[in-house]
Amino acid sequence: MNVLVYSDEEQIGIAAGNYMCGQVLQKPDSVLGLATGSTPLKPYKQMTELYRKGVIDFSRVTTFNLDEYVNLDINDKNSYHTFMRENLFDKINIPPENINFLDGNAEDLQLECDSYEKRIKAAGGIDIQLLGIGSNGHIAFNEPSDCFQRWSHVVELKESTVKDNSRFFNSLDEVPTKAVTMGIGSIMQAKKILIIAIGKKKAHAIKQVINGNVTPMCPASVLQFHTDVTLMLDKDAASLINV
Ligand code: PGA
Repeated sequence: MNVLVYSDEEQIGIAAGNYMCGQVLQKPDSVLGLATGSTPLKPYKQMTELYRKGVIDFSRVTTFNLDEYVNLDINDKNSYHTFMRENLFDKINIPPENINFLDGNAEDLQLECDSYEKRIKAAGGIDIQLLGIGSNGHIAFNEPSDCFQRWSHVVELKESTVKDNSRFFNSLDEVPTKAVTMGIGSIMQAKKILIIAIGKKKAHAIKQVINGNVTPMCPASVLQFHTDVTLMLDKDAASLINV
């Protein structure tokens, strides 16, 4: 693993945004796996900035987002569709038809998950997957569990995740408790992975990812088996590891 430690979130935003754009410069028709949450905000800002300056063109890029809540209107302010529109898609030039999401309102969610996997495959697979990490070690909505779930699937969110996400909602009761998410296999098939962790509350999970055993109780630990992972950390997230 390529572990890079930065003094603050600003620096990570610049480094991570440049890293994603580097992929697109190298391969203009790249397939990007994208994430939501607080972690990617600054990287998306940097990608937007480089686009605004005319340094980068996203017109041939395809994207697949990691996950979406179940039974939440895609125009709801807390849907991941809205998040992506507000923080990236409305600001750069990815053609709307190249943007892919799991549909959390599909009638048959499992069928939707199966078709998402086919769509990723048909696009040639993901060139680079951007990831955050949950304080419990989850990646996308792959929560700690007895086994790794391989492909895209429906998931009941853990209480800790619902609590973490409640900061975006008016109350805990409004936070959806189910989601559709890419699986561990879908993520591991990405050719490259960029994972970012910011803050003390991620430090324990990061320690497990770097020094711990690979276990589905810390889903992100599986990244030890991937051959091209870059980890960008701030000092707090790196506080329990030796670098
Ligand atoms: P965060 O979430 O970026 O909002 O910290 C990351 C995650 O839960 O995957």
